[in-house]
Amino acid sequence: MTHPLFSLQNKLMDTAKTLRRTISLWRFLGCAGTLATSLLLLNTAHAAGSAEAGQTRSIVCAGCHGVDGNSFNPEWPSLAGQNESYLINALQSFKDGSRQNVLMNAQAAALSDQDMQDLAAWYSTQKLAGKTADPALVSSGERLFRGGNKASGVPACGACHGPDGQGNGAAGWPAIAGQHATYSANQLLAYRSKQRVTDGDTQMMRTAASRLTDDEIQAVTSYIQGLHP
Ligand code: HEC
Ligand code: HEC
Repeated sequence: MTHPLFSLQNKLMDTAKTLRRTISLWRFLGCAGTLATSLLLLNTAHAAGSAEAGQTRSIVCAGCHGVDGNSFNPEWPSLAGQNESYLINALQSFKDGSRQNVLMNAQAAALSDQDMQDLAAWYSTQKLAGKTADPALVSSGERLFRGGNKASGVPACGACHGPDGQGNGAAGWPAIAGQHATYSANQLLAYRSKQRVTDGDTQMMRTAASRLTDDEIQAVTSYIQGLHP
């Protein structure tokens, strides 16, 4: 017969073993978790768009946005060189109806997530054609772009859109440099009247635009049109 002390010792050793096994299982699960995350990230990288497929898909868009994303009608935005993340966001918001436009809602309705990624890969790698600003508006437009308007509380546009107007791809913020002044002005008016609400809960563009006068909109969008990437 074993001494009660021995059996207690055995029990303790058993418990220690179970504990060790549990710990190594936790460690394993931890590793598996990290592995799963890496695989997920790899998978996301693979799911990114193909510019080649995007070019083929863009044939229906070319009539308005140009074959290489440079549109000829100043009311229709150029898409060449635009940030990929912003292009995808924009197409999704036309598709889900959170951004309203008679011409674009119908176009976006036909696009799958993969189509959007392919199209964004295509347009973001195209070269935006350079344009010019109205010389009479450059200095007032530049002042507003770089410094905002302290008196009325307009923030500096360059603070978010970048000193060269290239936006912020990581944040999904649009490049605005070289865009048609007419299109940009229409967007500022749409934010000002709260018709465009795609700037989310922060309402950053609705707030900025609500403080802009018509003259400021004209000057800053002309200046932006002349900004070169
Ligand atoms: C009939 C003309 C027309 C066609 C065809 C068209 N678009 Fe558009 N697109 C527009 C107009 C007009 C706007 C501006 C809408 C607004 O004012 O909100 C626009 C806006 C966009 C925007 C937002 C740009 C920005 O800077 O916010 C994207 C992205 C876009 N179109 C992509 C596409 C793609 C991709 C296709 C093809 C599948 C396409 N469009 C087909 C007219 C068109
Ligand atoms: C706090 C950051 C911030 C500031 C400051 C800011 N913007 Fe924006 N702007 C954004 C974001 C983010 C978007 C895209 C929002 C969306 O998807 O609707 C945007 C969108 C725009 C668009 C529409 C782009 C397109 O392709 O449709 C224009 C034009 C624009 N901004 C001009 C300006 C001007 C001019 C100023 C200065 C008076 C300014 N922004 C200040 C963040 C900012």
